[in-house]
Amino acid sequence: MIAASQVWILAFGAHLVGQGTLNVGELVASLLIANTLVFRIEGVGRVMQIFADARSSAARIWELLDAEPGIVGGSAALADGALGVRFGHVRVSTPGGGNAILEDCSFCIQPGEIVALVGTTGSGKSSLAALLPRLLEADAGEVAIGSDVLGWRNVRDFELGQLRRRVHVVTQESFLFSDTVAANLRVAAPHAGDADLIAALELAAAADVLERLPQGLETPLGDRGITLSGGQRQRLCLARALLAKASILGLDDATSALDAATERTVLHNIRGFKHAPGGRAVTVLMVSSKLSTILMADRVLLLADGRIAAQGTHQELSSSSVAYRELMGITHG
Ligand SMILES: Nc1ncnc2c1ncn2[C@@H]1O[C@H](COP(=O)(O)OP(=O)(O)O)[C@@H](O)[C@H]1O
Ligand SMILES: [Mg+2]
Repeated sequence: MIAASQVWILAFGAHLVGQGTLNVGELVASLLIANTLVFRIEGVGRVMQIFADARSSAARIWELLDAEPGIVGGSAALADGALGVRFGHVRVSTPGGGNAILEDCSFCIQPGEIVALVGTTGSGKSSLAALLPRLLEADAGEVAIGSDVLGWRNVRDFELGQLRRRVHVVTQESFLFSDTVAANLRVAAPHAGDADLIAALELAAAADVLERLPQGLETPLGDRGITLSGGQRQRLCLARALLAKASILGLDDATSALDAATERTVLHNIRGFKHAPGGRAVTVLMVSSKLSTILMADRVLLLADGRIAAQGTHQELSSSSVAYRELMGITHG
């Protein structure tokens, strides 16, 4: 259109100049006027385009903000002290009432215990971990936290914010926001000082990650932390979890990219929490498929067909459970 209008002005203008009814100066002026107008109209068009995009995006954002959460917290306050986990005949099915992911799943983890959860891919390990802070809701049965001293209580009874401060799950996909390292860590503890952040990074064996960052804690990370390696991302997420000082820590394959020695250091640090001044024992549920991780746990739970099929130490399970030996690739004899 723009090119055509200029061609038209030039052609018709040249014709008029030939006839002597228009001089060359007037022809150039007409071209300039046409150009200026076209640019202005294009500008208005661009703004209208941006406006239309923003309107459809805003509609989606409002829809999300206006959504009523399906999971509503109770009113009970959580008592201070170490907490354990108890599942009683828990059933969870896929959204829309489909197949059962967990079916009649029962087990108990005492406060301060470090337990590994193993199972084939798709056996429901991540779903089980998501039940603890009520990111997922059980269809039937009871997910309870507490201890023999404090008493056990259904997670539904507790105030949601408090529950999620005391029960922290590090998800399988280590998620970081496109913000600074410090801001990413402070998601778990908004009022933590720089010294707290550095201490948490040290506990998560991530002090060397910090050393390599050009601007230290103030280094901006790319979207989803793409500027870091998988292991570095995982350790930052672990540091964030440790900063939260939760009583129950779920690690959903959260140490998969760490080497055995680093993993050992981190778990040793977590075990040491109860000896720190004012510290309390942390209960850990580690989802893992790595033998090195499983060997560090006090006990192993084997998830199969939606329920805990076997439990015990690694030694006990490898001699008593065929399914466990197959899963871990252990051959006897
Ligand atoms: N949001 C969902 N919608 C439908 N199916 C799901 C959903 N989440 C998990 N599942 C199904 O539940 C099963 C268990 O998933 P998951 O807990 O992620 O297993 P794991 O962590 O042991 O690999 C899988 O078969 C998966 O397909
Ligand atoms: Mg999983």
